Amino acid sequence: MEKNRLLYEGKAKRIYSTDQELVVRVEYKDSATAFNGEKKSEIAGKGVLNNEITSLIFALLKSKGINSHFIQRLSEKEQLVQKVDIIPLEVVVRNVIAGSLSKRLGLEEGTGLKESIVEFYFKNDELGDPLVNEDHILTLEIASLPELDILRAQALKINEELNKLFQSIGVRLIDFKLEFGKDADGFIILADEISPDTCRLWDADTNTKLDKDVFRRDLGDLTKGYQEILNRLRGAASHV
Ligand code: C5P
Repeated sequence: MEKNRLLYEGKAKRIYSTDQELVVRVEYKDSATAFNGEKKSEIAGKGVLNNEITSLIFALLKSKGINSHFIQRLSEKEQLVQKVDIIPLEVVVRNVIAGSLSKRLGLEEGTGLKESIVEFYFKNDELGDPLVNEDHILTLEIASLPELDILRAQALKINEELNKLFQSIGVRLIDFKLEFGKDADGFIILADEISPDTCRLWDADTNTKLDKDVFRRDLGDLTKGYQEILNRLRGAASHV
C-alpha cells in the first residue's frame, strides 16, 4: 500500500493517506512531550516501542470483542488504521489516585479508588485540555448524551479488560487516557493509542514507574520501562 500525503502531524504521531480512502497509516515518532508541549525531547526508540505496544494491546482487546481503528502493524514505526473523525475528548479512567487527580483533590498518590473514575477533558491545546463535565460537552456540542453514555461504557469495559491483562503481567494499571472516533458509518470506535505514553503503569511488586511519568518527572531512562512493558506483553500475547 502506497504512503501518500501527510494528513496530520501531532506531538507523537504522523498520519498519512493511503490509496484507500477509508484507511490511513500512522507513524509513531520518537518525540516525547509533557505539560501541553512545554517539555519536549527526542527519545530514540520510543516510537518503535509504542507502535508495537499499542498494536499488541489493540489486538488483545479485539480478541475480547473490543473493536478499535487498528488494522495491522506494518513496520517498526507504522501501523495501518481505519480512518475516523476523532471526537475531541480525552477520556481518562482512573483506578488509583495519581497525577492531576491527586493535585486537584489533595489526595495521596498511590491510594486505590473503591470505584473507577471516568473523566472527560476537552482536547484543545490553546485551552490546555481542560476538564469538562457532561453539561460543558453538550454546550460545546462535542457529543450527545447517548454518545457520552457509549464513551463511558466503552471506557469502563476497556478498563476491565486492560486491568485483567496488566494484572496477568504483574503491572498495576493506575490510570489511562483513551480517544474515540467516528467511522464512515458514524459508529464510535476506540482510536489513537494505548501505550506507556497514555497509561500510568507501575510494577506490581515494587511500584516502579514503567510509563511516561519517568520523563515528566525526570526519573531516568524512559525506554527501559517501555521495553519492560513490551517484553511482558509479548509473553501475554503468545498465550492468546
Ligand atoms: O495528568 P493526569 O493525571 O490527568 O493523567 C491521567 C492519565 O491520562 C495518565 O495516564 C496520563 O498518561 C494520561 N494522559 C494522556 N494525555 C494527556 C493527558 C493525560 O495520555 N494529554
